[in-house]
Amino acid sequence: MVFLQFQKNYPKTASYLGELWLPGTQFLGCPIGILGGAMTWVSEPQLVSAISNAGGFGVLASGAMPPESLSQMIQETKLKTSKPFGVNLILMHPQLSEMYDVCVEHCVSHVVFAGGMPSSTVLNFFAQKGIKTIAFAPTLSIAKRLQRAGVGALIIEGHEAGGHVGPISTSVLVQEILPFIRDIPVFVAGGIGRGEMILKYLEMGAAGCQLGTRFVCASECIAHDAFKKAFIRASARDATLSVQLDNRFPVIPVRSLHNEGGETFLREQRRVIQEVDAGNLTQKEGQLQIEHFWSGALRRAVIEGDVETGSLMAGQSVGFVDAIQPVSEIINTLLLQMVPSALETEESCVA
Ligand SMILES: Cc1cc2nc3c(=O)[nH]c(=O)nc-3n(C[C@H](O)[C@H](O)[C@H](O)COP(=O)(O)O)c2cc1C
Repeated sequence: MVFLQFQKNYPKTASYLGELWLPGTQFLGCPIGILGGAMTWVSEPQLVSAISNAGGFGVLASGAMPPESLSQMIQETKLKTSKPFGVNLILMHPQLSEMYDVCVEHCVSHVVFAGGMPSSTVLNFFAQKGIKTIAFAPTLSIAKRLQRAGVGALIIEGHEAGGHVGPISTSVLVQEILPFIRDIPVFVAGGIGRGEMILKYLEMGAAGCQLGTRFVCASECIAHDAFKKAFIRASARDATLSVQLDNRFPVIPVRSLHNEGGETFLREQRRVIQEVDAGNLTQKEGQLQIEHFWSGALRRAVIEGDVETGSLMAGQSVGFVDAIQPVSEIINTLLLQMVPSALETEESCVA
């Protein structure tokens, strides 16, 4: 296990880190306070079990998959690891209650809600089954509401992240939320690619950090080689936000690597706007055509390797991804990057 070796080589640092992320590691039930954020099509049993087996906390992505597929994925993950892992559920899923049932049937230890705010009824339902809950908090007031509603832990994710994003940067969110939520663990996500950054957030009161983009090029990750190569080639500047051309036709903000698909999306929006203005389409029809443009595009990129027209969801931290490496090596690198400043802090405390 990565952390045991780390503990042997850097006992002082390990104890410093161990204390900093204790609320997080106790909550997650693993030795390293790093979550591998759920990524649709990417976070499947192989990657998730590799992260948990390396001492971190893997999270299965369920996206829009049917309950039977989730059930199978949980089973497969349990065959590959005896360590805790989480299940990410999207609150807009059309068969949400069946997805809940699957998590309960398999006695999963943690559920991570995305795409909205879980109600206190749902949080209590899972608490009664002994399942810990985690939810995203985009503002301090929502963080407090979720805490009152009984959530077990929070993730605050900044604008730098890959995939669907909020408008506020990680650096601002941590200042808005971390000093005021102390009773439950808060994990920080978005734009994190190096250990030094994780350490800074821990020192500000975070219980741990969630990384997505950094794990895409893990050798255990099943993503297509072309998808991984696009990540290795890319710099932070290539991970841009989806562009909306007209306020009448809202576009969900998604961060991804710009490609031909992004250009076609702009042309498609222009076409729809013209058609609606000319009276050939209703506004609702136009909106639906824009919304449907990207359907199936993430799968095409991740699984089939279509990096030209598929969706290459990636965070700005893609600039720190420069090789295909085993998960244990990625985590070890992050731990070693935490070492220098951790030692400095410990020495200055002793003095
Ligand atoms: C390809 C991709 C797919 C993602 N899919 C999901 C998802 O299905 N559910 C979710 O909660 N977050 C999703 N995310 C967000 C990640 O879980 C994580 O919070 C984010 O990647 C952290 O920021 P980083 O990419 O800068 O590390 C996705 C991110 C990426 C890059």
